[in-house]
Amino acid sequence: MTELAFPAGFLWGTATSAHQVEGGNSNSDWWEWELRPDTPCKEPSGSAIEHYKRYGRDVALLAGLGFNTYRFSVEWSRIEPSEGTFDVTQLDHYRRVVAAVRKNGLIPMVTLNHFTLPIWVAKQGGWLSDRTPALFERYVRRVVEAFGNTVDWYHTINEPGVVALGYLGAPGFPPGTRGIANWRRATQRLIDGHRLARATIKELRPAAQVGMGHSMQEWESNAGGRRVMNYMRRMSEDVFLRACREDDFVGVQTYTRMVLEMPRPIGWLTKAVLAVDRIQDFVVSRAMAHWASSGPVDPRKGMRRTQMGYEFRPGAIVATVRRVAELLPGKPIVVTEHGVAAADDAERIEFITEGLKALHPLVGEGIPLRGYLHWSAFDNFEWASGYAMEFGLIAVDRKTQERTVKPSARFLGEIARANKLMLPNS
Ligand code: BGC
Repeated sequence: MTELAFPAGFLWGTATSAHQVEGGNSNSDWWEWELRPDTPCKEPSGSAIEHYKRYGRDVALLAGLGFNTYRFSVEWSRIEPSEGTFDVTQLDHYRRVVAAVRKNGLIPMVTLNHFTLPIWVAKQGGWLSDRTPALFERYVRRVVEAFGNTVDWYHTINEPGVVALGYLGAPGFPPGTRGIANWRRATQRLIDGHRLARATIKELRPAAQVGMGHSMQEWESNAGGRRVMNYMRRMSEDVFLRACREDDFVGVQTYTRMVLEMPRPIGWLTKAVLAVDRIQDFVVSRAMAHWASSGPVDPRKGMRRTQMGYEFRPGAIVATVRRVAELLPGKPIVVTEHGVAAADDAERIEFITEGLKALHPLVGEGIPLRGYLHWSAFDNFEWASGYAMEFGLIAVDRKTQERTVKPSARFLGEIARANKLMLPNS
């Protein structure tokens, strides 16, 4: 046996988000989006996996498996159902969730905004509105005041790069506006919202660890595709990472690799295009519209894919963690999402094993990797793709709401308990 030990105090856990598991989030923009006549969603979230009322047993199950951390989100649209009205019964609910997490010996890591907005915020333009960062900050203040000293880890906004793409017309994501100006504007507002929220959390709870979870890809290109690759990476990842220099930690969320291959002449053309704002808008918007109709599936043939159509590439996480370590040297990093949509649970075990095997040497290199949280604890509502995608360590029968622990859950739970990965010698 080879033993790959992780540092003492390593966070081992799983992640969920409110809208994907709670059920009945009828005050959010996503709920509305799912029910539109022209919705791109395969099915509505409906009662999800009823985590809102079953959280007690769910959390106990996770603790029993050996984890020490649980990342989950609180739902703005429940807490502030209309502008300026805070529902204390909902704040109490989430206080009870935090208490249950702690009572079970798990560290709560709270995401303050995971994709959804209250309908009233969305009606004002969502992240395009000048008012949204301050409104977000006000909501964050109420939540952090309510949690007091019971929460030490906060994520402000989940995957701002993905949220911003929704304003450029990314497939499946609200609000479905288009144009580079909207994309840039939403990007700036998300950054402003993060900064205001961070300052407030630190003011109320200086000891808290504050960061956000960044959607990051392992990027690869040939010479022709390099400019487009750099452009996409800059706009959807680097901009946000640079805005996080003051954060306490960086959350890295990686599922796969993006490969951009283009013939050289097209590469030269794109260089010219990307240099001129007006043409850039036209070309990027057209590319996005095309993506919206074809889906974000990598066209390479003969490749091993996940249910999402992504390349099966557990080691992509190493490229992204390394990149954060290069851009923000010394900054503590937590893998806040890494996972695979797979019907065959053996593939998940393989994904976890290969991912951790690849991550382990980084610790020895001195990269401050502090934890690994797997996406996801349960099979759940995978946004526009609905319930068919199986990301969970625990299966859920949505008719009976019965939970069934998969072998991968026990496998990762044992690693968590031992704080090491054991590999048979080959
Ligand atoms: C999101 C999750 C999502 C997961 C799998 C991440 O982009 O934070 O909400 O379910 O990826 O696609």
